[in-house]
Order: sequence, then C-alpha cells, then structure tokens
Amino acid sequence: MYYSDELIEDVRRRNDIVDVIGSYVSLKRAGSGYKGLCPFHNEKTPSFSVSPNRQTFKCFGCGKGGNVFTFVMEYDNMTFIEALQLLAERGGIELPKTEMTSAEKGAAAKKHIMLEIYKKAATMYFRKLRSEEGKHGYGYLKGRGLSDDTIVKFGLGYCPPSDSGLYRMLKDEGISEEMLKESALFNYSEAKGVTDRFWNRVMFPIMDVNSKVIAFGGRVMGDALPKYINSNETIIYDKGRNLYALYLAKRTRQNFFLLCEGYMDAISLYQAGFDNAVASLGTALTPNQARLIARYTKNVIITYDSDGAGRHAALRAIPILKKAGIVAKVLNMQPYKDPDEFIKALGREEYEKRIKDATPGIFFEADCIKEEYDTENPEELTKFHNRIASKMLEFEEELERTNYMKAVSKRYALDYEEFRKLVNNIALGVTKKEESREDTTVERVPKKEQNVDAAAFEREKLLLTWACEEKAYCDLLTSYLTPESFQEGVPRQVAELVFKKLEDGSEKLLPATLISSFSELSEQSLASDLFQSGIWENMSGDKTKQDKAFSEALSGCIKADRQRKLEEAIKKNDGAAMQKLLTVNKDKSKLESEILKKLNGLNA
Ligand code: UTP
Ligand code: MN
Repeated sequence: MYYSDELIEDVRRRNDIVDVIGSYVSLKRAGSGYKGLCPFHNEKTPSFSVSPNRQTFKCFGCGKGGNVFTFVMEYDNMTFIEALQLLAERGGIELPKTEMTSAEKGAAAKKHIMLEIYKKAATMYFRKLRSEEGKHGYGYLKGRGLSDDTIVKFGLGYCPPSDSGLYRMLKDEGISEEMLKESALFNYSEAKGVTDRFWNRVMFPIMDVNSKVIAFGGRVMGDALPKYINSNETIIYDKGRNLYALYLAKRTRQNFFLLCEGYMDAISLYQAGFDNAVASLGTALTPNQARLIARYTKNVIITYDSDGAGRHAALRAIPILKKAGIVAKVLNMQPYKDPDEFIKALGREEYEKRIKDATPGIFFEADCIKEEYDTENPEELTKFHNRIASKMLEFEEELERTNYMKAVSKRYALDYEEFRKLVNNIALGVTKKEESREDTTVERVPKKEQNVDAAAFEREKLLLTWACEEKAYCDLLTSYLTPESFQEGVPRQVAELVFKKLEDGSEKLLPATLISSFSELSEQSLASDLFQSGIWENMSGDKTKQDKAFSEALSGCIKADRQRKLEEAIKKNDGAAMQKLLTVNKDKSKLESEILKKLNGLNA
C-alpha cells in the first residue's frame, strides 16, 4: 500500500457510504439502513443494502460487498489506489504526492522493469516472426488458418532456436542480472550457463486486462512434447488471476463471455467474429478468475473440449462461476473436439447455433450425475433423484429454486410435487443426502487462492461480528481462541486485526475500517462478508437465542482448532503438544454449556 492507514481512514470517513453510493444508485430507507437495485447485476427487486452504521454495502443477490472503496472499485473498475484518489478528491483531502515507503517504491519500480522486460521480449518475438529466421513459425501460424490481422491482434511471435538471443539483447539494454533472473524467461545451469527458456516455438504473449504483456506461452510447431511451455509466475504474473484474451473480451458488446481452454481456441473464436472469448491459461478455472469475469459479465458459456477432461473441467467450473454470481451454460461441440476444430469444420453460423442451444449448467451437471447411475435399476434411480434433489438446495433463493425444480422435474420426467417433497425432506434432514461417488471432484486449489471452508467461515463470521459488538462476546472469544484458530487466509488476517483492536480496547472497530487493509477486491469482499451476519439481523432482540448461537459457533471453532492442531502435532510427532491438546475439552455440547454458563456470568 502506498498511503498510510490513517490517511486511508481519513478519506473513508470523509466519504459517507450512503452519500457516495446514493450518487450512483437510488436508495430507499429500510429499517436501519438503505436498499436499492444492485448496480452489479440485473434485478427487479432490491437486494442491495447499505448500512450507515457499519459503513458497508452488501448485495444479497450477487454477493458483492465491502466498504466505500470497494464500491468505487467495483463500480468504476478501479484499483484500490485509483478509488482512494477519487474519494480523496471528493472529500477534499489532498493526498501527498509520494507516500510510498522505500520498500514499496522498490517493489513498484521492480514491477515496472519487469513489464519492460516482457514488452521488449514480446517485441523481439513479434519481429522475429516477420524475419527470415521466423519463416517457419509464420508458416505454421498461417497453416493453422490465422490471418495477418489476427496474428497482429494477438501479438503472436516466434522464438528462434538460439541459445541466448533474448538474454543477450536484454543484457545489452542494461537490464540487471537480478531482474533477468527473476523474469522466469531464462534457465540457469552450471553446464550451459544462462539460456533462453523459449527455444524454437511460436509465441503467444499473455496480456493483462490493460493489454500489458505479463507472460508467454510457447507452442512447438508440430507434435513434439511438451506442446506448450509457459513462463512461470513472477511479480507481474499470477495465472490464477488472469485470463487469456480478456483485454479483448472486456470490450465486447455481447452480454456473455465464451470460456474456452486453449490459446488457439480463443484466437480462432476471435477470428470467426466472437470477440468475447477468454481462456483460463492452462489451469482449472480459479475463483479469482471467476470473479474477474464477473466484473464484466454475469453470463458465461463454457466451451471446453468435448473429451472427458473437458467435461470434468466444465463440471468443476460451474459451481465456481455460480459462486461469483455467474450463470453458466455448456456448449456442445460434438463431434468436434474444440472451438478451433469446430469452426474450421462447420463455420461461424453453426457455432452460433450451438451457443443458442447451450445447456444450462444445472442440466449439464445433472446429466453428468445421471451417467454415474444405472437408472434402469430402481434403487439406483432413487439415488440419482436424491442427488439432483440435493443439488436444488444450492439455489438459495426460493423462487429460483422453484423454477429449477420445475425445469429439472420436466427434464427427467419426474412428478413435480414428489420432487419438491424430496427436496424439502433433504433440506430438513429427513431424507439422507446421497453423497457423490467421486471424491476426486474436490478441487485442489492452489495455495494462493481464497479457499475458505464454508461452515468454518459462517462460524468465524458470527464470532468476529459479535465480538466487535459486545464486550462479553469479545472476552469469551479472546479467552478461548487466538487468531491462529481461524482458517488461513483472509479470515485469519481479519481475526488478527480484530484481536489486536480488541486487545487495545481503544475504540469500537468499524468493519469498514478493517476492509481497507485489503487492497484486492476479492479479499475486500471476503473480509466484508465476515461482518455480514444475516442470522444476527433476524435474532437481534432475542438474547437467549443469540447467546446460544454464539456458544455454538465458539465451541465449533474450538473443536476445529483443536482438531487442526492435533493433526499437526501428530504429523510432527510432537508428543508434548498432543498431550496438551488431548486435555482440551472435545465434547462440543459440554463446551457449549460451559460457554453459556460463562456468558451468563459475564452478562450478570
Ligand atoms: P490444448 O492442448 O487444447 O491446446 O491445451 P490448444 O491451445 O487448443 O492448442 P492447439 O489447438 O492444440 O494448438 C489447452 C491449453 O492448456 C495449456 C495451454 O494454455 C493451452 O492453450 N497447455 C496445454 C499447457 O500449458 N501446456 C501443454 O503442454 C498443453
Ligand atoms: Mn485445444
């Protein structure tokens, strides 16, 4: 961060959230807050609410939420710094010109140099493609049907079979060895010294949303393996937070994106006139990528390869997109493998038809589930019905759920009333939920992702919100837990801040203040979610109920914490730690009553 926390807080205070949002969205008073139509998704009934007390906003439809900075960032597609500057101006606060610490200045300068390195590299590859040396590469791309315009639009290039051409060029331009080493564009070995990472490949520059080159994919011109080599992540490249061709797709007039697997698919689609295609950079779609898409559109048509891997990837992408507020459909390219092949074989119009016929995500999921069962067998059929009924519970809004239940019962020839009952019974726990057969569907999310456990998140949310509101809760929370008891990532970071504030005991902690500690939208949103306790709203007034919920959440958290620490101790074979942990009360109901008793004492 470039500016001091105090300054950021000043700017925030000078910009009352109701005033700011009110200048973009028409807000109506509702209870202690305000309501309006969400500016981030299409809706007819207002589910967007602004709380003047907390100085936060939240949309219960699309899930977006945060403080005044978050709002401006979302609304105007700005970075945190840009939003800060805008709001500072609005509030009449002059920002000091350079408030960067020397470390921050260093990091910014390094990023700048890194972008320069990639730009120079891309320029060199681009030129080589047109040179005598690059004939082979140019021929390959033309052979795959790409026009000169397309090649230019995507900045495609060629890297000759030279051992260190790029390295020498950058060295000659005076780039430091340290930066070159960090750029992930070179291999360092004792035997060969420094060599270029890419060798005799056609080059696909990967650009960020502002059209800046931040990485490369290099393809062999033939069938050798590996087909693609990609540059590694660097200070400018986080592949889980970027999408190939987004810089083009963000300008589309279409109200949906086409999500494909490969560089070549996105390029082919673009050339065929679909300027709304993005590709997920050779990894499974990440939550951050989904949130990135959600900034531009709430509709995605998945056009992954027709093979098993592609179907599987689509199955994993659907819930990730849904979580980001995006409605997904899946496009069928049979009998062709991918968009590139399909368009070559059948052309633009046919593809257009397939877009129209794309299967809604829920049907695609249900069809895939169906394949797991022999539906001729009554027992298996029941299991299948249970599985799709459980899926219906993923739709939180009643109207939406009803619509899907109707559609699903029609598609699978079920009696609607019966199906509805089944769904209700599962929701109430009367009918046992049929578990998925495959536990491999659980995705391994890379470490950096905001991979939060939903149940734990609910508990943590409740504990943190209430501890900030009430002294008794705060005392109990700090006596049983430490920030390390919270799950890693944003929840733990927030817990650290909250605990620190609670210990200082100086002033009441305002969620909006805390949210400013995060500069990424996704983090802000998650942090603000930690302070949105819907349950609480329903309960205010009923102290007994609230105490009960608090003790439940706290004991749940204690138990999970103990479990996690125990597993760690076992892994490390740390006998002393195990001993200590075993004495911690593990009986959840006992814990609960112990906490309740203490609460009563504190309240008295
Ligand atoms: P594909 O193998 O489908 O490649 O991988 P493609 O882009 O469609 O290319 P063509 O049409 O075969 O030439 C899809 C994506 O997975 C990543 C790349 O991002 C690729 O675009 N990938 C694939 C790799 O990173 N490395 C590989 O070896 C293969
Ligand atoms: Mn492909």
